[in-house]
Amino acid sequence: MEQERAVPRHVAIILDGNGRWARKRGLPRTAGHREGCRVVEQTVEDAARLGIEYLTVYAFSTENWKRSAEEVGALMQLFRFYAKRLLEVAKRNGAKIRMIGERSAFAPDLIEAIGRLEEETKDNTGIVFTFAVNYGGRDEITRAVRKIAQKVSAGELSPEEITEQTIEASLDTAGIPAPDLLIRTSGEQRLSNFLLWQAAYTELYFTDKYWPDFSKEELERAIEAYRGRERRYGGV
Ligand code: FPP
Repeated sequence: MEQERAVPRHVAIILDGNGRWARKRGLPRTAGHREGCRVVEQTVEDAARLGIEYLTVYAFSTENWKRSAEEVGALMQLFRFYAKRLLEVAKRNGAKIRMIGERSAFAPDLIEAIGRLEEETKDNTGIVFTFAVNYGGRDEITRAVRKIAQKVSAGELSPEEITEQTIEASLDTAGIPAPDLLIRTSGEQRLSNFLLWQAAYTELYFTDKYWPDFSKEELERAIEAYRGRERRYGGV
């Protein structure tokens, strides 16, 4: 039996509630997103210090394009700004940064910035911080199936050879273990198309806190709840 770990190896977070956090304060939604980015940065640092090996956050879904042009534009500007800042965070923590999702939809300079972030941090050995942008679990699985079908039609693979590992290796998260704990903020209790394949056995933790109010204490509370369940059910 695997030894009980002090912290889950992989924590995934659906960060939700930026808009409501802002509204409660009479601020524009974009102010909530700005604060949300600051908390993401802080959470990478906290998770690294707690010994979490993988942190994955849902930053922008395939559905988020439906928001107003103004909000989408502001989010893209924030991603541009944070692509630079994240490089600093990665240097401080030895973090390796990855993006999952379909990046071709973004402006060329943003695609380049994301590529640079991944390239410059690829040899780091600290926490692996993955952000999901233009990500949807169904879209990821669809793209994986397409890749596999191409191999089959090229004669490189036979249908009988397709296993769960074949699918896993074709997902954007290839090489990243499944999340042990998934946290969603702001009181919603849905997966919203996040890590559909990967979350098959993941423990779910929900908090009413809006994402900008998330903190190290809240992360520790989630880990504590996870450990309690591990003790009771042995993680099956
Ligand atoms: C959740 O709140 C926010 C989003 C889905 C998009 C914005 C994400 C960030 C700004 C953080 C990403 C940062 C980095 C650096 C990767 P919501 O707008 O859905 O809030 P609401 O449900 O209260 O309206």
